[in-house]
Amino acid sequence: MSDDLSILDILIKDLPKYEAKTVRIKGWLYNRRHKGKLAFLVIRDGSQMCQATVFKGDVTEEVFDLCATKLTQESSLIVEGVVRADARAPLGFEISVKNVVAVQIAQEYPIQPKEHGVDFLMTKRHLWLRSSKQWAMMQIRNEFLKATRDFFYDNDFTCIDAPIFTPSACEGTTNLFEVKYFEDKAYLSQSGQLYMEAAAMAMGKVYCLGPTFRSEKSKTRRHLTEFWMIEPEVAYATLDDIMKLAENYVSYAVGRVVEKCRPHLEILERDITKLENIKAPFYRLSYDDAVKFLKDKGMPFEYGADLGAPDETAISEAYDKPVFIHRYPTSCKAFYMAPDPEQPHLALCADLIAPEGYGEIVGGSQRSDDIDYLLKRIAEHKLPAELFDWYLDLRKYGSVPHSGFGLGIERTLSWICKVPHVRECIPFPRLMERIYP
Ligand code: 4AD
Ligand code: MG
Repeated sequence: MSDDLSILDILIKDLPKYEAKTVRIKGWLYNRRHKGKLAFLVIRDGSQMCQATVFKGDVTEEVFDLCATKLTQESSLIVEGVVRADARAPLGFEISVKNVVAVQIAQEYPIQPKEHGVDFLMTKRHLWLRSSKQWAMMQIRNEFLKATRDFFYDNDFTCIDAPIFTPSACEGTTNLFEVKYFEDKAYLSQSGQLYMEAAAMAMGKVYCLGPTFRSEKSKTRRHLTEFWMIEPEVAYATLDDIMKLAENYVSYAVGRVVEKCRPHLEILERDITKLENIKAPFYRLSYDDAVKFLKDKGMPFEYGADLGAPDETAISEAYDKPVFIHRYPTSCKAFYMAPDPEQPHLALCADLIAPEGYGEIVGGSQRSDDIDYLLKRIAEHKLPAELFDWYLDLRKYGSVPHSGFGLGIERTLSWICKVPHVRECIPFPRLMERIYP
């Protein structure tokens, strides 16, 4: 390879800035065609893909032979050439090749540009991540997470990391992962919420963003056993305040993806107009009205139950923007939720249902600040009261109304990317039947 210092090492995504310049790209071969005196290489470097055209007269015979016949799919290579405008290229530019060096000629690549079953692709997840749709989804995930941190930082939230080893349940005991903890046992965190409640009393507005764990024995398209959640918690906030926060945040983060990830959404063939429409305020529907809606549709539904996936899907398909369902019966929700003073059998809580059939992406509530009520609920949920002493302290020392929510990153991304299953929205999914690779 040339050690000419005037050759610029660049990323493919920056090609438009270097018209007529000689550049060097370090990447992999995605695809190759050969026709007479021309070889066309589609190369990727992680930042984007582009075409590099090799004309026989411009390179040595050896290099032409390498490009026309020897380079295999996913071979690693370094390409030097001149950036040229080409209206047909996706970025509007391509490279006229001067030299190519193969770093490694790849063995026969298991993923061919044909249809493979998802099971096979999941077993090859470490390679599948290189495919353009998977690459696009990870780029969108990256933008969504950056937009999330920007939103909360810009709105005066302090990031407080929650522990992953926890002594007790937050979201019910049926889906806890138990792990050995020296001579004792612990659980992988289902939610950082209880710790965020403590932190909100110290910092006012806080959030955590990290992995959470649920040993859900459900093989649905919405469930991972390890998923990422953003959980803001705000002192002095009511249910209404937290719904406004959630809709402003979701509008902002979706807006950022639309602004920065247009090429990625196009690779996924996503209808971008549907996302452009996602602007606060979202719709609000009481649980009681949601039940009426489902009954009118002829769906079998028992008043008092939590909404199931088919119920959420039906509601989700009826709206063009996300919809909050608020005030579920306390009996089907977590112990910490405050009852509505006007209808104490209902909790001051809200789930946000994403449109286009995607279902719940956010669960949130106002938290109870009544010690006696919490003790009663902890007993009803058969939780070990002594492990909640610290949590109840928060109601003894300067207790204030406070509220928060949790948004599932992968569920939200599956809606934004419009992919059927959450498993493609996390780099290495953990599912009931899969922990490899
Ligand atoms: O509704 P959930 O269980 O609420 C909580 O955990 C609260 N403690 C959050 C809070 O108020 N701080 O979970 C919140 C969100 C759901 O709406 C969903 O998006 C996601 O987390 N989620 C899952 N995502 C993927 N796989 C699973 N098994 C999930 N379980 C919940
Ligand atoms: Mg929920």
